[in-house]
Amino acid sequence: MVSKRDVVRCSNMSQAPYSVNGKRCKLVGCGSAVPAITFSNDELAQIADTNDEWISSRTGIRNRRILTGNESLTGLAVEAAKKALAMANVEADDVDLILLCSSSPDDLFGGGPQVQKLLGCTRFPPAYDIRAACSGFLLGLVSASCHIQGGGFKNVLVIGADCLSRYVDWTDRKTCILFGDAAGAILVQSCNGDEDGLISFDLHSDGDGLRYLNAGIIQTETNFAVGVDGSTLGFSPTNTSISDMQMNGQELFRFVDKAVPQTIRSSLAKADLRVSDIDWLLVHQANKRIIDRIAANLEFPKDKVICNIENYGNTSAASIPLALDEAVRSGKVKEGEIIMTAGFGAGLTWGSAIVRWG
Ligand code: ACO
Repeated sequence: MVSKRDVVRCSNMSQAPYSVNGKRCKLVGCGSAVPAITFSNDELAQIADTNDEWISSRTGIRNRRILTGNESLTGLAVEAAKKALAMANVEADDVDLILLCSSSPDDLFGGGPQVQKLLGCTRFPPAYDIRAACSGFLLGLVSASCHIQGGGFKNVLVIGADCLSRYVDWTDRKTCILFGDAAGAILVQSCNGDEDGLISFDLHSDGDGLRYLNAGIIQTETNFAVGVDGSTLGFSPTNTSISDMQMNGQELFRFVDKAVPQTIRSSLAKADLRVSDIDWLLVHQANKRIIDRIAANLEFPKDKVICNIENYGNTSAASIPLALDEAVRSGKVKEGEIIMTAGFGAGLTWGSAIVRWG
């Protein structure tokens, strides 16, 4: 009888041509970090016109963590990365590449190099940011695999970290209830052999959907249009800031409801797998109702759905690695098990991947 593992091994071999150097990748370590402060629905109801009953029944969220005081996004990313390295038994100096997936870095120019510095990677590996909202981690994972299979990198740290509480209008009850801050990290390592940690993937974007979720720049003209000698500069220099998030939740809900099952089916088809071959479903934690509907659409068993939105809300690029880290450390997800995952968010960006843990 052909076992599920054999099915997966065969499907990998059919995917083999996309490895330029014959290398494969595996997911060998994970870690996560969250801010110290927990902010409950009841506490939120003190500053916005909402209540615990509405939030928990419509979203599944009860608490979220909020970055405060001396905490930083970089600090969370580094803490998560250190845990992933420890689990993988890999030294910081053996990291070849750092991908920081974040739409809310501490600095406009990104945070990857700061993670390199604070991790103490003294061989100065390249580090850069991937900015793709809630799909960021998925894009990071696919990028890590491409760097390994086409670029010869060995140990790639993929970190999903976001602090969208920075861009929340706390008086807008339609958005402020959803978001929380966190970081999660995975160490992706190159290996030989037929099996691949990234079995298949399917990625998309549609800039037309920006109107459903955005945080645009705000430019205000300065009074420096006239030079010190009274001459006209010919343009008005501006000061720039970023607006709070604007979201049309209902449109996004409708979009995700259709697009996510579609992209997961596409990844399954590319891997030549059926839903029944999959051990776990772990999609971006945006709303418990969305997660339940995706599982129902795919006819996937409820007890095989990984969900921790109750405690953290929507942590954007951090949500998938944060939930995976909890599931691995609690013993739920075991080595060799197959997970179908999907991300979706602002941009719009969305996609899915079939991955093997360990
Ligand atoms: N508390 C109490 N009442 C509320 C609240 C609230 N926090 N928010 C809305 N309401 C009210 C509305 O005013 C409305 O009242 P009305 O019927 O009298 O007009 C009613 O509740 C229903 O509002 P809806 O907007 O229809 O509520 P819905 O069930 O659609 O839930 C939500 C809103 C939670 C935002 C949902 O649409 C959603 O989760 N959408 C998807 C969000 C998402 O996936 N974002 C993408 C990822 S984020 C990223 O990429 C950064």
